[in-house]
Amino acid sequence: MSVKLEMSEDQVKLLKQKIAEHKQKPGPLMPTLHDAQTIFGCIPLEVQKIIAEELGESIAKINGVVTFYSRFTLEPKGKHVISVCLGTACYVRGSQMVIDEFKKLLNIGSNQTTEDGNFTLMETRCIGACGLAPVFTVDDDVYGTSSPKTAREVFAKLTE
Ligand code: FES
Repeated sequence: MSVKLEMSEDQVKLLKQKIAEHKQKPGPLMPTLHDAQTIFGCIPLEVQKIIAEELGESIAKINGVVTFYSRFTLEPKGKHVISVCLGTACYVRGSQMVIDEFKKLLNIGSNQTTEDGNFTLMETRCIGACGLAPVFTVDDDVYGTSSPKTAREVFAKLTE
């Protein structure tokens, strides 16, 4: 399940303008991707094509970079982003059960967005809060020492 990206002409124009600016300096790819993520909220294939054309790079290269860095996403994110840490400290304390609970509650898999566009569920690596393991975040809020029960409570609050 995914949310389709709608690109307006203004957004495309802005991206091309940004690319033209970045091309004046060495290493234009990363700042371009950063801008694309900000403008569109994600960098799907149709946006990668524009970047590839404007920078004279292959789509394979652009796609490789987009999929390598977790700060770039291929699909638009939902209104709320739930990220469950599957780093070692969290994993050994049961974060897999927490993410499995969210999958059941949201009826989606990892790195997917609900059809209504309300929630995106992400798996993350260590976010540096191992002392609170297992940890998940909802937007800017951090939930430590979590369990499937915490997941249910937070989900209930978000959907009330
Ligand atoms: S392993 Fe989850 S916060 Fe470090």
